[in-house]
Amino acid sequence: MSDEAVLLPEEPVTSLSDYVTRRRGGEAISRARALGPGGTAKEVTLSGLRGRGGGGFPTGRKWSGLRAEPASAGDRYVVCNGAEGEPGTFKDRSILRADPYQVVEGLAIAALAVEARAAYLCVKEKFTEEIARLSVALEEMAAAGLAGDVPISLVVGPDHYLYGEEKGLLQAIEGDAPLPRPLPPYVHGLFATAPQVGWSAHPQAYGVGSGEGASFDGERSNPTVVNNVETLAMVTHILTRGPEWHRGLGTPESPGAMVVTVVGDVRRPAVGEVELGRPLGEVIEELSGGPRAGRRIKAVFSGVANGVVRGDQLDVPMSYEGLAAIGSGLGSAGFIVYDDTADMVAVARLFSRFLYVESCGQCPACKFGTGEITSYLERIEAGVGTDLDVEIIGRRLTTVTDGNRCYLPVEEQEVIASILREFPEDVAAHLEGRPPPPRRYDLAKIEDLRDGVVVVDLRQAAKQPDWTYADDA
Ligand SMILES: Cc1cc2nc3c(=O)[nH]c(=O)nc-3n(C[C@H](O)[C@H](O)[C@H](O)COP(=O)(O)O)c2cc1C
Ligand code: SF4
Repeated sequence: MSDEAVLLPEEPVTSLSDYVTRRRGGEAISRARALGPGGTAKEVTLSGLRGRGGGGFPTGRKWSGLRAEPASAGDRYVVCNGAEGEPGTFKDRSILRADPYQVVEGLAIAALAVEARAAYLCVKEKFTEEIARLSVALEEMAAAGLAGDVPISLVVGPDHYLYGEEKGLLQAIEGDAPLPRPLPPYVHGLFATAPQVGWSAHPQAYGVGSGEGASFDGERSNPTVVNNVETLAMVTHILTRGPEWHRGLGTPESPGAMVVTVVGDVRRPAVGEVELGRPLGEVIEELSGGPRAGRRIKAVFSGVANGVVRGDQLDVPMSYEGLAAIGSGLGSAGFIVYDDTADMVAVARLFSRFLYVESCGQCPACKFGTGEITSYLERIEAGVGTDLDVEIIGRRLTTVTDGNRCYLPVEEQEVIASILREFPEDVAAHLEGRPPPPRRYDLAKIEDLRDGVVVVDLRQAAKQPDWTYADDA
């Protein structure tokens, strides 16, 4: 949809005046001010927008849920998640490079809608180009009165996968390591003082009455909303153009367009904005030129969080419901393509090791389970595996999520189980001593992607399960 590209203008927006004249900058926040907090949340609900951070949760419903919290729950906060740690994605950084102003305006609108006390815009410390662009945008917009009425702080965080997990992100904003806390942000938000675990004999602020009758003894749960960069950027355009415009694109269950990344065994890795509901294979072909000459697509993954899409399923609609119907998921639309030279045991090992290394270990079944599954996959790949190893992997996959605080081990379950289910012949080839020809497997944890050239984080291979690096002195 290049002529209608909304989130990725062809020419990057480099100043506030450029944003105002070329992109209708500032119209969205004015409209939100006119609609008021409840009206703004309703507008987003009507648009049908679903969160682009991976889960696809309806944004308007998230905001309305927060608005329904009693005042006794404490202050409210809004967080923009720009951690972008999902392998295969480079869409948030592309959006920030193309136009950081639309993200700041969307965050200001979210803060207005939920009547937040403050807002935080979080990116990784290593995203230096985006930090520079955002800093200028924040300064210019605040000076022009277009950054809303609450303070927005730019937060830079570490290069760990869990920094992007919303409960880990809140910990990082508070100055701790990004280890997910037990309760979700809307129950236990930023700077909350209410207890998270255990039984409390005294009345708690959360859930005890509302309005004047609420009991509040000083313990605050501070309900917080976390939204992805792309979600908030799209909010800006929905407020400017109206919810019907957004509903008019995509499918009834997946309205709108999404910024899609395509990397892996393709001619030209790319990022582009695509209307939802189009066949996945067509999108891959259009953005990246498809597989290299003489090759065919064997498998496609949406990040490392969803079941595999086989090469013969590429007519599946690129939508939440379309991909769910074949046991996969849209995630954050970062597609990693493998051609027919790929060994799916090696791919499973690569993904499983990433999840094992990035697991924080607060939940034993997650850290030990992902670790064990990784080592059994390594055995099979090395040609010393047996049927018993495959069986043990199957068993660990059923328990890896026991007592999980976050979704990471569910990702392990979904992606590894699907590979073993859909590509049994690749496993059998290793067990029977017929390994495929060797080739290179680098995790698509993207550092940069421009002009058809992708740079991946090769250092990830040296990262160890305690988050140190084997190549550190
Ligand atoms: C392990 C893990 C990593 C995640 N990483 C990111 C990330 O880098 N960026 C992001 O926006 N969401 C990420 N998420 C999803 C967030 O927890 C959260 O659902 C999202 O930011 C909500 O925004 P949305 O409603 O706009 O989608 C991650 C989730 C998990 C379980
Ligand atoms: S489920 Fe895994 S990654 Fe998530 S908090 Fe528990 S140990 Fe950490």
